[in-house]
Amino acid sequence: PEETGENIPQYQTAVMTPRETREVTILYGSETGNAQILSESMASLLKEKDFHVSISAMNDFKSNKLKKVEDLIIISATHGEGTAPENAVDFYEFLHSRKAPNLKDLRFAVLSLGDESYEYFCQAGKDFDQRLEELGGERIVPRVDCDVDYDDAAEEWINSVISSIFETGGQNVDVPKEAVSTAGVTTEYSRKNPYMAEVLDNIRLNGRGSEKETRHIELSIEDSGLTFEPGDCIGIFPKNDEVLVDQLITLLGWDPDYRVNAGKNEETVTTKAALRTHFEITKLTKPLMKKLSEVFGNESLTSYLEDDDRIREYIYGRDLIDLISDFPPVGLTQETLFPVLRKMPAREYSIASSCAANPDEVHLTIGAVRYHSNSRDRNGVCSVEIAERIEPGEQIPIYVHRNPNFKFPFDDTTPVIMIGPGTGIAPYRSFIEEREELGIEGNTWLFFGEQRFTTDFLYQTDWQNWLNEGTLGRLDLAFSRDTEEKVYVQHLIQESGKDFYQWIKSGASIFVCGDEKKMAKDVHDSILKVLEEEGDMSRDDAEMYLSSMKNEKRYQRDVY
Ligand code: 2AM
Repeated sequence: PEETGENIPQYQTAVMTPRETREVTILYGSETGNAQILSESMASLLKEKDFHVSISAMNDFKSNKLKKVEDLIIISATHGEGTAPENAVDFYEFLHSRKAPNLKDLRFAVLSLGDESYEYFCQAGKDFDQRLEELGGERIVPRVDCDVDYDDAAEEWINSVISSIFETGGQNVDVPKEAVSTAGVTTEYSRKNPYMAEVLDNIRLNGRGSEKETRHIELSIEDSGLTFEPGDCIGIFPKNDEVLVDQLITLLGWDPDYRVNAGKNEETVTTKAALRTHFEITKLTKPLMKKLSEVFGNESLTSYLEDDDRIREYIYGRDLIDLISDFPPVGLTQETLFPVLRKMPAREYSIASSCAANPDEVHLTIGAVRYHSNSRDRNGVCSVEIAERIEPGEQIPIYVHRNPNFKFPFDDTTPVIMIGPGTGIAPYRSFIEEREELGIEGNTWLFFGEQRFTTDFLYQTDWQNWLNEGTLGRLDLAFSRDTEEKVYVQHLIQESGKDFYQWIKSGASIFVCGDEKKMAKDVHDSILKVLEEEGDMSRDDAEMYLSSMKNEKRYQRDVY
């Protein structure tokens, strides 16, 4: 009999069998949460498609299980000088040790996140990828290395991995756009679709005579649907300084109104607009220098770049204007230069207010970056734009970056030690304001440091009120330029070593926010010393103790 539509047998699709029995293991190495968020999105997409998925930070994965894994997905950020993120280091070392098993039955795929302005761009991801191949694994899809604006590349990679695991011969699986967004949960806004936030207030926190310029800005997020928690960040897309852009255009002898393709939807914008908002022009990197030398048509630049050490030395404290003045390009056009330039990355700042207390606003604490190098004054693109050129009433493009690696304890009774000199104070203002709103008292200890009490005590009245009220339990201050000998937060930690150790023993979580290279390193060291002296531990034991605190999320850092 002829089959009617209704009688067509409902075949199970061919892919059901493999996907029901197959378990996909997703391991992430995440520094500020991007890799974790992508991994979680990918896990939920796979689960929706009936895969068994196991997902964890690499260090939480039992490495003796590795041999049994069939499909391994690695999403890893890279830290500082090309090392694996903190929650991936143990796994990284295991994989590179003699103990690493033969993985001839493994299928794997690696996505690496990084920042192209670093020399060891995406190095951890590259290492994982190479090592898994060495151990016998078979690549599901090629590794992709993403710069800070990873959304599109990551989405495409996730899509192709899922399609391949599906074994449908490359059939496209639709990955919903919001799946890989980094924004708050209930909003259409994300880094790819930033929210235009109105600036409500923009004030200098430092008093007259201070050497610092720290801005407090308040943004309206009314009707945006954006939400956030203490510890989260706001990303801002800045504009390049008009003075620099004009200088660049003049140097190149270009017409500022000449229209160029701006990528999306084949819209065109003027050369000047493109240079103000689309591209990074204030930073030179090694890979950028190599690409630039190919379009500059300047032979002395080409031969200058043969020496890696020389490149490294040149790019320090110089920008595109320097390069163009030092090595004038021949016949450089918008069409040849723009494809080579890096897309303007957003700048991320820790949020300084509580969403529970002020759901329609978000506050930020931003230090203006200014320095002098190679005979010119230079400015941080975003921080100085905010300090000098953004007035209340204007709108700026923002998104929320959830940071799962800087999260205050769920349990209100857990003691919390907060260390945050300078702008590192921001997330604690958010946290304590939230506790005030929720009526939670005490068990909190803040270490703050700045140059001078009279001019640089950021949010002084807030802290004093919270201390009086009891929301803040204890406040220790280090004003480094008020005393003959410099006093920093790490000195205060050691001075109060006994109490500090007692807090740790009673279950305290420690948070560190602010300067990475000097402060966070010195603070780490002083915590180790407290453990050695008060806890009667050897250096090795103290290090083990602190690293187990780290694994238990009782020692978290947001450092930059
Ligand atoms: P300084 O400027 O007097 O050196 C915020 O910037 C505060 O951090 C300032 O008081 C600054 O002191 C201080 N600071 C500088 N280096 C530091 C370090 N290695 N550890 C802790 N605080 C530091």
